[in-house]
Amino acid sequence: MSNEKPLSEFQILPATPEMLPDILLLEEACFSSPWTRKMLETELMGNQFAHFLVALRQGQSALKATSAIVAYHCFWIVFEELRLMNLAVRESMRRQGIGKALVREAFHFALDQAATRAVLEVRASNEPARSLYTTMGFVQVGKRPQYYTNPMEDAVLMEMNPLVMPSGRLNAPTCCAGGESTSTDSP
Ligand SMILES: CC(C)(COP(=O)(O)OP(=O)(O)OC[C@H]1O[C@@H](n2cnc3c(N)ncnc32)[C@H](O)[C@@H]1OP(=O)(O)O)[C@@H](O)C(=O)NCCC(=O)NCCS
Repeated sequence: MSNEKPLSEFQILPATPEMLPDILLLEEACFSSPWTRKMLETELMGNQFAHFLVALRQGQSALKATSAIVAYHCFWIVFEELRLMNLAVRESMRRQGIGKALVREAFHFALDQAATRAVLEVRASNEPARSLYTTMGFVQVGKRPQYYTNPMEDAVLMEMNPLVMPSGRLNAPTCCAGGESTSTDSP
């Protein structure tokens, strides 16, 4: 797996509607049952609980250089609960800390809003994602049999309760200036 750029050359910003086509391409490249454009649109523009971040190559304009998008993360903050909804990093850019940096940013948002726990669901076979979440302090709390399709697979439920910022190397790139998506319905 090639490392195109060191993490320091990336920044995390709120997603904008102009980024949707590139986020959709990333989504389709990363998942066997990807979210549709409509679902992404809904998260970005119609769901009051949703926050949508992208990781961009540093120095690129967020509006003009959408091809610079190398990762995205959608999460909800529903009162006291942070829900990690979707996270994807371009394959050639993995294992550089970008996924972790995006989840850390979600933690910042959630803690700022007084969230006290975090939850997520992940495919049982998704070792990279499970490893990432475990590294960050999530623990398995349950299973949902045959929850996913294409292929049919169990979901593992993971939780961090109480929600705390993981210790260790803070290797996040330049980070978003507090912006967030204004969104509509749930997926
Ligand atoms: C899961 C995913 C988001 C991880 O993103 P990433 O940027 O590569 O992750 P990071 O570089 O931040 O990894 C942080 C830690 O997670 C763990 N990890 C990440 N990928 C791993 C892998 N392939 N194997 C084992 N552990 C892994 C490691 O502990 C890693 O730390 P290290 O690199 O210092 O060992 C990425 O693999 C991806 O986009 N996968 C496809 C989409 C997906 O499955 N999304 C998750 C849906 S729940």
